[in-house]
Amino acid sequence: LIPPSSGSAGGGTVAKNELGNDVSVSQFLDSHNVGGRSLVQGLKGDPTYIVVESKEAIADYGINAICTHLGCVVPWNVAENKFKCPCHGSQYDATGKVIRGPAPKSLPLAHAKVEDDKILLTPWTETDFRTGDAAWWA
Ligand code: FES
Repeated sequence: LIPPSSGSAGGGTVAKNELGNDVSVSQFLDSHNVGGRSLVQGLKGDPTYIVVESKEAIADYGINAICTHLGCVVPWNVAENKFKCPCHGSQYDATGKVIRGPAPKSLPLAHAKVEDDKILLTPWTETDFRTGDAAWWA
């Protein structure tokens, strides 16, 4: 049996907080509201939203927060249940699917998996479940 690596398994990365420490899933769930989206450092250090699905679980996907227009970090708007880019007004639905331009594409996805109370993010190369198209970022 090979113990799972703590840093990067299979091209993945462990989600980090703003201090660069591994995110604890139990603390994360305790401190965020169900339905919320909250930023971690994900693949390649990109800001990535983790979706709080319930008091016990995060979604099995993370959403890259970098606007596909010109690269601003897109904030989550709780009241409107969507992501709204402050730079030029692009909007994305709660899964990161683009619903208003000028952004040309949806926000990239990553797989998110819980291991030992940590969040392991791995590249999403499969079909984009929001559009049924190939993952444009892969
Ligand atoms: Fe987001 Fe232009 S960078 S709309």
